[in-house]
Amino acid sequence: KAYVPGAKPKAELEALDKELLELVAELQPTPEERQRQQDALEAVRSALVKRWPECKVHLFGSTANQLSICNNNDIDVCLELPGLPTDANTKGEIVEELGDLLMEAGMQNVLPLPKARVPVVKFVVGDNSVKVDITVNNILAIVNTKLLADYVKLDERLLQLCCIVKHWAKRRQVNDSYRGTLSSYCYVLMCIHLLQQRQPAILPCLQSLKPATFQRTVGQWMCDYYDDVEQLKGFGSANKESLSELVWAFFEHWAWKHDYNNAVVSVRTGGFLTKSQKEWTRRVGNERHLVCIEDPFELTHDLGRTVDRQTNGVLHKEFERAACVLRDLPSPLEKLLEPY
Ligand code: CTP
Ligand code: MG
Repeated sequence: KAYVPGAKPKAELEALDKELLELVAELQPTPEERQRQQDALEAVRSALVKRWPECKVHLFGSTANQLSICNNNDIDVCLELPGLPTDANTKGEIVEELGDLLMEAGMQNVLPLPKARVPVVKFVVGDNSVKVDITVNNILAIVNTKLLADYVKLDERLLQLCCIVKHWAKRRQVNDSYRGTLSSYCYVLMCIHLLQQRQPAILPCLQSLKPATFQRTVGQWMCDYYDDVEQLKGFGSANKESLSELVWAFFEHWAWKHDYNNAVVSVRTGGFLTKSQKEWTRRVGNERHLVCIEDPFELTHDLGRTVDRQTNGVLHKEFERAACVLRDLPSPLEKLLEPY
């Protein structure tokens, strides 16, 4: 289990690449699934505009940034009510009202969570059993979804790597921020960061390129970045690494190379910051900062803050397991993705 510097996967890389790419293709949602999600969105929209004719209804999360994988048909929807105060209390009240309204509109298993950090209503669209999470004026999520979508357009290896990592995290049950592991959003940021770190880099840092062609301020957060991705086509082409090399690099980093004591992953700067720079050195309430991933816009938000001592151990063991399987088995995929 020990780290062996310079070790490489045991498998023949070309064969492993082929298998990984086949898996990525299988994991893409089918046109039928996409259609069901679209239908669900329309059902939700028509229920909402009756009550709030001036509202906008946005899709965000993986269904909006191309990173969804099949058999995971939840959709993330944001209700935008212009002019509404953005404090959590008001959002909580709207969420209560939304709950009643959605129930009357025939939605099923309606569960309003007005006290959550981001107040949300969870429900299932009756007609086609698509699961929906709806939040109110969650503008940061709309903007960070666009940032991720723009990174996805830059190099196809990002989508491929995210697919494999998300699938692995779901299979190994380390993809649940409510239970102390990491959200899909967090894994995607870890993948973007890895591709920013490769030599030569596969992805640029869109938030440090100038000029900022996309500009939006959300509350106290400045969400400006360079979004003219057409101009950046081919940015990563000097790097010839294949998917299997990147999957290996991902797990090798998180198993053995990451400086868990000091480092903060920062997609915003395209590098690592230190916990002391962020003042994330001690536990405040339930926030422990054991694994630190900086949100690209909401700079006080550490996406790893849900990880506690116990789940940190679980996560670390899973990263090590994955890295060992890749390093030591001639045909690693089945074992790598074995359900926990
Ligand atoms: N989000 C966020 N902050 C978090 C978690 C999520 O802003 N701490 C927002 C992001 O916009 C993210 C969206 O919520 O894109 C959905 O999050 P999540 O479900 O974790 O990611 P998905 O990419 O939708 O993954 P999955 O396919 O597993 O649903
Ligand atoms: Mg989602």
